[in-house]
Amino acid sequence: MERRIKIFPTAFILAESLANVIVNKITTAGRKKSFFSIALSGGKTPGILFSILGDHFSAAADWRLVHFFWVDERCVPPGDHDSNYGMAKAAIFDKISIPDSNIHRIRGEEDPNTEVLRYARELNKIAGKKNGLPVFDITILGMGEDGHVASIFPGNEFLFFSDELCSVAEHPSSGQKRITLSGKLINNSRDIYFMVTGKNKATIVNEILGEESTVKRYPSSLVAGNAGKTYWYIDMEAAALLGNKIQSY
Ligand code: 6PG
Repeated sequence: MERRIKIFPTAFILAESLANVIVNKITTAGRKKSFFSIALSGGKTPGILFSILGDHFSAAADWRLVHFFWVDERCVPPGDHDSNYGMAKAAIFDKISIPDSNIHRIRGEEDPNTEVLRYARELNKIAGKKNGLPVFDITILGMGEDGHVASIFPGNEFLFFSDELCSVAEHPSSGQKRITLSGKLINNSRDIYFMVTGKNKATIVNEILGEESTVKRYPSSLVAGNAGKTYWYIDMEAAALLGNKIQSY
């Protein structure tokens, strides 16, 4: 599995670069097809990317061909400060011209066990297919300090290997119910971009990407796009322990 690591001086420069990647891919796709899908993660890290997209790229892409999905969602109402959808709505959707029908949020306000079934149906109906599975053109992933990805936390790797498209998960310390995509769906993405910033991620980044990494030790280690290319966009703070042995592509 090939990991392509790119280290940026700051989180802002990283986010600006990733925003350009996204917009360029939308533009390129727009010449050939009328549908482009992006799966978003939540948490704090992507906030700067969403703000850049909403504030500086609102006119840079034909958002009418873009469909947004989520890698995971907290089981809270859309207006809750914890909602991943709510964060993206305020930073992006309220600032771009995009049909509401292109926003495929996970309904955190619904019963989790019912919503996983509904969302799986929506994924099957709307997202394109590759390898017989729903496919996203780009999936944006964050990573927790404990190496979790989406809402798949260490010890719950069975959720990554689930046969379902999405499952109910639980935050290990808060007990908050989550809905998370499974690994087969994440890995089916055409392009996967991890976005990892901040000094608090330096240890886990080194454990996963450093020389001594024992692959497959964390949920995030299990992410490997079927194309074999997973891009790791990391700022200098998060890369602090990687040393210069890691080649930034
Ligand atoms: C979520 C995210 C989750 C996130 C990591 C990193 O719903 O919380 O999808 O996977 O990417 O927890 O979160 P931070 O960016 O806040 O460190």
